[in-house]
Amino acid sequence: MTDAPSPDRMHAISDETRATVDVVLDYARRRALYQDVPLDKPLSPRDLSRLASGSITPEGIGARRAAALFENVLAPACVSTDHPGYLSFIPSAPTKAAIAFDLIVSASAIYGGSWLEGSGAVFAENEVLHWLAREFGLPEGAGGVFVQGGTIGNLSALVAARDAARRGNAAAGRPDPARWVVVCSAEAHSSIASAAAVMDVDVVKAAADASGRLHGESVERMLDAYGDAVFAVVATGGTTNFGIVDDIASIAAVTKARGIWLHIDGAYGLAAMLVERMRPAFAGVELADSVIVDPHKWLFAPFDACALIYRDPSHALIAHTQKAEYLDTLTETADWNPSDLAVQLTRRARGLPLWYSLATYGTQEYRSAIEYGIDLARRIADEIEAREGLSLVRDPQLSVVVFRREGWTLADYQAWSDRLLEEQTAFVVPSSHAGEPVLRFAIISPMTTFELLTGILDTLA
Ligand SMILES: Cc1ncc(COP(=O)(O)O)c(C=O)c1O
Repeated sequence: MTDAPSPDRMHAISDETRATVDVVLDYARRRALYQDVPLDKPLSPRDLSRLASGSITPEGIGARRAAALFENVLAPACVSTDHPGYLSFIPSAPTKAAIAFDLIVSASAIYGGSWLEGSGAVFAENEVLHWLAREFGLPEGAGGVFVQGGTIGNLSALVAARDAARRGNAAAGRPDPARWVVVCSAEAHSSIASAAAVMDVDVVKAAADASGRLHGESVERMLDAYGDAVFAVVATGGTTNFGIVDDIASIAAVTKARGIWLHIDGAYGLAAMLVERMRPAFAGVELADSVIVDPHKWLFAPFDACALIYRDPSHALIAHTQKAEYLDTLTETADWNPSDLAVQLTRRARGLPLWYSLATYGTQEYRSAIEYGIDLARRIADEIEAREGLSLVRDPQLSVVVFRREGWTLADYQAWSDRLLEEQTAFVVPSSHAGEPVLRFAIISPMTTFELLTGILDTLA
């Protein structure tokens, strides 16, 4: 420790900085290799103030004390999304290779926004994006970028879609509509409404069928009603609440016939297309103008990453490239600059952990780990149907199982859910469907077992 501040103390190679890096890497190594990941739980602001405030001081509290504070107080106040019993929202389950490589991304200070600065990283990310594009049946020339998450992916795709529609109107001498419209299913993710609000456009919800699937006929009725105001249709490749895949082929037939941009929100579910027998459920994805899939969901990468892929990336370049004198050296080249394909400028090379993991284990392991979740969802759904007092709300299509416990109110579900977390068994929060409170297992982790799930069902008796 030095007494007076020195400008390079935090950066120079010294005993102190070496020890600091060791403290952090040692903890990261232990956490990455935990045999039993603790589920953990939130603490109240009051408890955290009592236990953890005062860490920011003029002199610093030192590497060891700060790391101990994190390990002993702050980390246990964060629910582990990779715990096999974390079954709420969409869990995460990064591979060991992906977790470890994320540390290298941090250590390497790579600027992932431009080819000039990050060509090696951008090349590797593109290897993954092109592999995904081929899996989705998109043509040669499709390409994209890893952005923060599905929300930014959807927003960026819709911004590109509206820009293309505006340019189409300008070229044809047509006026733009007073209000632009995006059509999606009533079951679409909330990020579509959020993107529309940011863009100041209207969302029109087309009715899904009784099983939650959106079909071309329903979309067509909305296109008839809203005409040229519609700049994009969003189909969902795996809804969040149920894992239902829209009838993308019939929707694509309608959008293609009218020259309207088709975006596929596959943030959660599109990964299932890597499983051969699931491919027919996703027919029509190959006709999309843009798609997203989140590696931090079912492609086993750490937070945060969304693969955003455009059929024709030139639309995205026109819509998103930021113009500034200091950027001219980057933007006035034909180089592949990921910054120019989404709402962003500076970017972490967040696709690299997935690249490294895919390169390490090969694509077959991914197909197998995803298929495991689909099979487990089917198995536990059958078990639920077989148990007295439990029933499925809908048959699972991917790896989300929604069910009810007969006779329970929302308060019963909430008390049960709180107890599970309190006892550190599992994290299963109540959801709702058509006003009815329900339970939901979202299965991502290959470490989630049938026995763990039946153990949770036992507590509902
Ligand atoms: C279908 C779908 N789209 C979009 C999103 C938003 O993704 P993110 O949370 O990464 O912004 C989610 C998140 O669960 C999702 O399930």
